[in-house]
Amino acid sequence: MKSHYCLITGASQGLGKAISFELAMRKWNLILVALPNSGLENLANYIKKAYKVSVVYIAADLSSRSGSELVVDFINQNQLNLKFLVNNAGVLSRGLFKDQNVDYYMNQINVNVLAPTYLSRELLPNLKLNAPSGILNVSSMASFFPLPLKQVYCGTKSYLSTFSRSLRIELKKEEVTVSLLCPGSINTTTRICLQNRSLGWLDRKSVLNPEKVSKLAVEGMLRGKEIITPGFINKLFLVLDKILPKWLKNMLIMKELNHLQNIGKFINDEKQKIQLKNI
Ligand SMILES: NC(=O)c1ccc[n+]([C@@H]2O[C@H](COP(=O)([O-])OP(=O)(O)OC[C@H]3O[C@@H](n4cnc5c(N)ncnc54)[C@H](OP(=O)(O)O)[C@@H]3O)[C@@H](O)[C@H]2O)c1
Repeated sequence: MKSHYCLITGASQGLGKAISFELAMRKWNLILVALPNSGLENLANYIKKAYKVSVVYIAADLSSRSGSELVVDFINQNQLNLKFLVNNAGVLSRGLFKDQNVDYYMNQINVNVLAPTYLSRELLPNLKLNAPSGILNVSSMASFFPLPLKQVYCGTKSYLSTFSRSLRIELKKEEVTVSLLCPGSINTTTRICLQNRSLGWLDRKSVLNPEKVSKLAVEGMLRGKEIITPGFINKLFLVLDKILPKWLKNMLIMKELNHLQNIGKFINDEKQKIQLKNI
């Protein structure tokens, strides 16, 4: 019988990588999942040596059902006992709905919605056998608000939020907790870091680094917390959403839309500058 593992999807970079380190630091064995050729082998070797834990990795494309099947088959064939499933892999986006083709949105829905649903369902027998155990679904503050330029992304995260809260009630008796992580902006990808630099004062104050979010996420998950909202300002946004009148919220959203479009231009300018420097 092998000891217990935590599975983290989207573990190659950003928040998923930070969550993997946070769990390894606490001596959890890991199963890392990300796309092929994303450096998982090196990451797994590094974590093994640095933290003296067992780390296995699975290169799988979670945008297709066969990718999710690969993950489940690997775990079953190797008889890995699962304590925690962290559905973190996600496709981010920002732009007008008309500006991306339909394949982009199908891919985003597959990774953000179908993969966590598939993995939660197919790995549930394993989690039940190893109960008390848990699932952490990585949603977003974007799941609470209608946000122009993030339409499909917001929809996928709203699904994840309602799915998690419903499943949590259903699994209470089985001792499998379902936690929901709803971070605001995190400095992960280059694009997000550039966007965050040009935010207004209050929004800038809400931005967190992946290390801080992963610490709160892992602490919350291990305690079986229902909703984890990292950062004081993000909690404040949720309170304001409840008390501000609708007309004022709509006005702020339209202001944000104009601002985000300007940020889009700013990022393209910055990217051009970087490209020019590299010539
Ligand atoms: N960054 C933010 O501001 C923010 C805010 C709120 C919520 N979140 C959520 O946090 C999670 C992580 O975001 P992040 O900022 O860390 O993003 P990221 O840096 O872009 O990392 C995304 C991860 O998902 C993996 N992934 C993407 N498509 C995949 C696919 N088809 N199959 C398998 N793995 C795939 C990527 O693997 P590869 O390296 O192989 O591409 C990568 O490991 C997401 O669910 C996101 O929605 C982020």
